[in-house]
Amino acid sequence: MQIAVCPGSFDPITLGHLDIIRRASELFDHVVVLVVQNAGKTPMFSLEERAELIKRVTGDFKNVEVDCFHGLLVDYMKERGASVIVKGLRAMSDFEYEFQMALTNRQLYPEAETVFLTSSVERMYLSSSLVKQIAQFGGDISALVPAQIIPDILSKNRKDDDK
Ligand code: PNS
Repeated sequence: MQIAVCPGSFDPITLGHLDIIRRASELFDHVVVLVVQNAGKTPMFSLEERAELIKRVTGDFKNVEVDCFHGLLVDYMKERGASVIVKGLRAMSDFEYEFQMALTNRQLYPEAETVFLTSSVERMYLSSSLVKQIAQFGGDISALVPAQIIPDILSKNRKDDDK
């Protein structure tokens, strides 16, 4: 069985991420959506909270599992015997960063290949950081994230306002 891992910060998961996960699930036997730390980002949700939100919106995908990992992506890949890393590419601006990560991961673990799926045109502009900014200022995020997780984002914002 070929295991593909779809890693990311997913802080929070957007409709763009969900589109890539759905398409990956049609290409590979088993897909693990893996929430991992991006050392360059300060997250809104903990890894576990993000994994919980993803589970809620991917429940219908039969071959998709959700997990989180505190460590290097390649160590998780080795542990699981996974051979494919799936990443979404929105625009040329994603390319340099994704290319650097793909080459580094190959250096660390040559047994795994990174496969890029292009985002769908309707989701090209979407990012978790835009979602957080819009939510923070009371804007409408209903076209950007799955409906089931909107209350979690709004309540996290309210808690942050209370600080
Ligand atoms: O959604 P993102 O933030 O663009 O995804 C980047 C992510 C989280 C997949 C990357 O930072 C990562 O793999 N983090 C885990 C730690 C790791 O393996 N770092 C080396 C990457 S070459």
